[in-house]
Amino acid sequence: MSARAASAAIAVASSASSARSESVVASPLVAIYAIAASEGMSIDIAGGGELELALAAGVPAERIHFHGNAKTDAELARAIEVGIGTIIVDSEDELDRLDRLVPAGRRQRLLLRVIPGVEAETHASMSTGGADSKFGLPIPRVGELIDGLRDHDRLEIAGVHVHIGSQILNVEQFAEAVEALAPVGGLDVYDLGGGLGVAYHEGERAPSVDEYLDRLVGAAEAHLPADATLMIEPGRSAVARAGLTAYRVVVVKRSGRHFVAVDGGMADQLEIALTGQRFSAVLANRADEEPDVTVQLVGRQCESGDLLIDGARLPSPRVDDIVVMPATGAYSYTMSNNYNGALRPAVVIVADGVARLAARREEVADLLRLHAPAAEHDWSAPPR
Ligand SMILES: Cc1ncc(COP(=O)(O)O)c(C=O)c1O
Repeated sequence: MSARAASAAIAVASSASSARSESVVASPLVAIYAIAASEGMSIDIAGGGELELALAAGVPAERIHFHGNAKTDAELARAIEVGIGTIIVDSEDELDRLDRLVPAGRRQRLLLRVIPGVEAETHASMSTGGADSKFGLPIPRVGELIDGLRDHDRLEIAGVHVHIGSQILNVEQFAEAVEALAPVGGLDVYDLGGGLGVAYHEGERAPSVDEYLDRLVGAAEAHLPADATLMIEPGRSAVARAGLTAYRVVVVKRSGRHFVAVDGGMADQLEIALTGQRFSAVLANRADEEPDVTVQLVGRQCESGDLLIDGARLPSPRVDDIVVMPATGAYSYTMSNNYNGALRPAVVIVADGVARLAARREEVADLLRLHAPAAEHDWSAPPR
């Protein structure tokens, strides 16, 4: 399914159950922001850089929602300056900061992020709603803060936000998070976050968008005010299956194991090392051949943990074969980095048989540009 089709499916499904659809954060590309905005979605951002990308995509500022547990003064000031729609407040320090930064005569719409105390059944690094999470505020404190800010002239608490994590395959956990919000009743907006998981490989089953929304809306009907606006923030479930990564085989080696090494790795596919996510692979240039070997598909970065697939079944790979890993549209490009001097890959978006470049391939000149100040100093001598 394309990102556009996935987002349309979510928008249609959610309007059928009178919920409001929301944003993509798993693929913060100008092109994806523009596609999501054209589908009527709002856009979540998680930092000042993503704010600039969303603005560059032409997303109206009032449709941008600013998340993050450690927003700086400069980021908040910029968001306020451009007229951002909603800021999701993660701490009391952030509230104090907003009190200082929102100018007289302006009313800033806020949601308070709560800790629902739901330990999501997913990798620990993707679980964000447990009692010890670094994200959000304890529910009793949220109630007090809402009461305290009721008559504030510049800060408007429109509602609360909850996000229990990512790659969640058990819809009951979303219902638990909704139930946890019941004590903070009487608000206009309940933003229920993202987190719906994706089936990445054979044998994995993910809930459908309908199953997910039915459970979410069912829990909201049971525990939240009937006239409240519900929002969701699908990331992974909207874009993961819309993307694939193509690598070229560089080395085939039978040493301790049968290794197939490609011209990328954890510098462009960090999620595997971070979360243990398991992907599948095919040889695009020999897709009609039956797999006959089990190989360690590895990247080229200097870590044994740079293992793209542990035990990939492929037709005996050869140098220059093209290995394609499907369902890598979420959290890959956004986590790409320059480890070992790797250059970020290009991103090409294909629709109706037409390929368009969404982000160009990084070049050595891009890498060197950041280090230009080094040329101003003589590093062999102590600073004067
Ligand atoms: C606040 C918030 N909302 C939504 C999402 C999207 O989650 P997912 O991609 O799992 O749908 C994230 C992901 O990090 C997030 O932090």
